[in-house]
Amino acid sequence: MISTENFRERAHALVDQLADHLEAQSSSDSKCISYQTPAESYAFWEKFSGDEKALYKAVLERSISVHHPGYIGHQVSVPSTEGILASWVSDVLNNGSAVYEMGMAANAIERRVSKEMARTFGLPNTATGVFTSGGSLANLTAMLAARAAKAPGIAGEKLCVLVSDQAHYCIDRAVRIMGWGAEGIIEIATDEEFRVSASGLDHALKVAAQRGRQPIALVGMACTTSTGTYDDLELLSAFAKTHNLWFHVDAAHGGVACFSESEKKKVRGIEQADTITLDAHKMMRVPALTTLLLYKDEVASYRTFSQKADYLWDEAGPEWYHSGQRTIECTKLMMGMRVLAVTMGDGMASLGKYVEAQYQLARAFAKTLSEREDWEVATEPMSNIVCFRQIPSDETEVDSFNLSIRERLLQDGRWYVVSTRLRGTFWLRVTLMNAETSLASLMEMIAFAENQR
Ligand SMILES: Cc1ncc(COP(=O)(O)O)c(C=O)c1O
Repeated sequence: MISTENFRERAHALVDQLADHLEAQSSSDSKCISYQTPAESYAFWEKFSGDEKALYKAVLERSISVHHPGYIGHQVSVPSTEGILASWVSDVLNNGSAVYEMGMAANAIERRVSKEMARTFGLPNTATGVFTSGGSLANLTAMLAARAAKAPGIAGEKLCVLVSDQAHYCIDRAVRIMGWGAEGIIEIATDEEFRVSASGLDHALKVAAQRGRQPIALVGMACTTSTGTYDDLELLSAFAKTHNLWFHVDAAHGGVACFSESEKKKVRGIEQADTITLDAHKMMRVPALTTLLLYKDEVASYRTFSQKADYLWDEAGPEWYHSGQRTIECTKLMMGMRVLAVTMGDGMASLGKYVEAQYQLARAFAKTLSEREDWEVATEPMSNIVCFRQIPSDETEVDSFNLSIRERLLQDGRWYVVSTRLRGTFWLRVTLMNAETSLASLMEMIAFAENQR
């Protein structure tokens, strides 16, 4: 048993330290990153010694702050108070969750939350879900479910998955993990807006036939990682039905459009999916890792894994309350509780408003940039992701020119901007996740980039 008085005292001290850190993020001279090279960082941590307070002080100073309004980089949530506190409870309880007794609350909450989310996505009453440690694991699990449903017992080297050429790399990795090799993934060509096209779908089927592979699944993006583009999920679901394909939607980032009346049209067709990946640690203000994998038909979720584990459960029958029967993980965090904490009461409505605000800000930023002569955006944003670049006088230098903008921003530290390559060319990329980020601050960043030339 830990000493409760000691725990209380140190936990209070840590809360004060963290609250001070969060408060400092809004001061005008604060930075979201004080960049150090990997060698500098390692040199510091290799020699570090000190007490608990010094450890956390150094960690806070030497880490990127997603709570800073200038954090507009990768798709990692700015966790809310509800999400953070729920995580602390999970850490204190440390319930393993794989078997019922080790997660009595966790397993029941997982069921409640997944049914609520399934309803929000318009899935039928047969739908439930499981939480997994990240979208990559959820997408792998969905591909395993596709195989169990569509091609049980058929060798992987005879099968393939059709997926947008803009898909997150984890789908490719999932196919290779399953042992289907590079030929097991067939990329569907996308149009200028980076959406899967009808002709791309037909062509992908031909490629499958040429390779002598049986397509078993089609993956739709809601939305893509690089440009935040939503596929036409109605087109994809109709195609999947016609060709008897498992229809998986990777809605890790953009599934949250469902929470907003004005944005939900972008995911029309998602209700036809066999499985859906939703990362709560992207746009739901929940700490990482918290991913929900939804199944249209609960029965399919039990088919994915059927290992016997005498030390965990007697009969590997379909028992929702042993979450380990349906996940790659055995021990896992109380992820459902985190999602319940942020969605209960009017939490879902607040998330809807937050999503709308971020999507609107992305549109406003893109519009302002496109009105400038020497800036351009890659696509009209469909979500809160914007790819943009400055056009130098010598256009042949566009890549190196924008690369150097990114480097200068990183050294400055007030904004954290990332990059991507679209059809081979370099673009600056932002994901607007922070409710404190304003158009004015984004334009200040643009002015900084321009003045540094
Ligand atoms: C569309 C999409 N799918 C899957 C993933 C992988 O999710 P995770 O980082 O939770 O494994 C990402 C990550 O950015 C993503 O954007």
